[in-house]
Amino acid sequence: NWKGEQQDVYSPICLKENENKQFKLGTYPMLTQIEANQALESASNAYNMGMGEWPQMSVGQRIKHIEKFTFKMIEKRDEVVKLLMWEIGKSYKDSQKEFDRTVDYIKDTIDALKELDRKNSKLEINSGILAQIKRSPIGITLCIGPFNYPLNETFTTLIPALIMGNVVIFKPPKFGVLLHKPLLEAFKDSFPKGVVNTLYGSGAKLLTPLMQSGKIDVLAFIGSSNVASQLKHNHPKPNRLKAILGLEAKNAGIIMPDANLEVAVNECVSGSLSFNGQRCTALKILFVHENIVGSFLEQFNTKIDDIKCGLPWDEDVQITPLPEYKKTEYLKELIDDALKNGANIVNKNGGTIKNTFMFPAVLYPVNKNMKIYHVEQFGPIVPILTYKDIKEPLLYMMESNYGQQVSIFGKNSDEIAKLVDGLVNQVSRVNINSQCQRGPDIFPFTGRKDSAQSTLSVSDALRAFSIRSMVAMKNDSDNKE
Ligand code: G3H
Repeated sequence: NWKGEQQDVYSPICLKENENKQFKLGTYPMLTQIEANQALESASNAYNMGMGEWPQMSVGQRIKHIEKFTFKMIEKRDEVVKLLMWEIGKSYKDSQKEFDRTVDYIKDTIDALKELDRKNSKLEINSGILAQIKRSPIGITLCIGPFNYPLNETFTTLIPALIMGNVVIFKPPKFGVLLHKPLLEAFKDSFPKGVVNTLYGSGAKLLTPLMQSGKIDVLAFIGSSNVASQLKHNHPKPNRLKAILGLEAKNAGIIMPDANLEVAVNECVSGSLSFNGQRCTALKILFVHENIVGSFLEQFNTKIDDIKCGLPWDEDVQITPLPEYKKTEYLKELIDDALKNGANIVNKNGGTIKNTFMFPAVLYPVNKNMKIYHVEQFGPIVPILTYKDIKEPLLYMMESNYGQQVSIFGKNSDEIAKLVDGLVNQVSRVNINSQCQRGPDIFPFTGRKDSAQSTLSVSDALRAFSIRSMVAMKNDSDNKE
């Protein structure tokens, strides 16, 4: 019953070569401010300062609602997978993976909660005090997911928030907005009124007033570091806001002189370019030791030559359309800036743009004066530079605004072990002889500096979206004494 205007959604896929004609996939309503306020009011009524039905419901009952939703969600698999391909250009294989990973995430979350609840139901006795410690919800949660994992990463906050008894307002990303539509009915059928509220529309217009209302207790945001900080600072009582954020990264790959080049090349190609490099965990800058840079580049570029560029449903496709033309313009600006400051495109067809496609560009040698050295490209550009002393990539990481992950390639385990002690204080995950990544989802997923706040993962998220509260009772026998 939304009254807001309908917004058209166009696919970034152009079916005919050399044709810039995008076609309409569907529409979604642009909510008015009044409607957004109604969503907030409905969430507020359902939570009722923690006295609502949902926040007071037993863990077992809440799990039943989530299970009902999951069952209904699975029925929509084909529709959602298709929309993932058409809306954001994700390959068929990766779109299926995103859906199935999300279902597994929900199931694992249920199991983790049962385990947590089992521990919490135990009584603790200390100094004459009998205590039951449990996890309680925090309140009204605003969940905002990113375009690159519009289903999965929205659900990595939405599901744990809900299961812990919070109520949720969630805003689907601009790209990947339609794929949430098939799930609306499932939400409606599976949860009490007001527990899940979908906010369609312009984030720039609707979110600031929501935050300014002071009624949002938890901001769960995955996306750009700047937007997150603007949203946070709009809250009039920042001490009352819990921020759970997954933000930008500039993960470095360090290729040491004794690295197994085949392993390093394979991991760095896939680590930099899976889903067009549009992953926060992608490798976004490579430091190659000067003694091996020649052979590294040769093997790296040969591997990139073989990369298949095509439509999401083409077999073994790796490079697919970017979500909008504007994205190719931004990437081109970064490439031009690097070329102006002394880098070259060193691979065949590197940076070629056709419609919404961009063939990967390998830039070498990259230096500090280039934008690409500092900012997150979130696209198919691989900046490479050489180093002589390991202190150089370490200094890069120390000076960077980001601190999510690093990948280090080499054979000398003693040398690597020595480095790891320092690296874990720079980033939140060190990968040895493998690319950076988020999963498996039971592992903690976070970052330092401008890369994250709080920790997500199956069990960490349950903690993030709750507080430990306690009922304490003075032991009776003590009272008698
Ligand atoms: O975009 C950020 C995602 O958390 C990346 O997840 O490493 O599983 O692709 P992934």
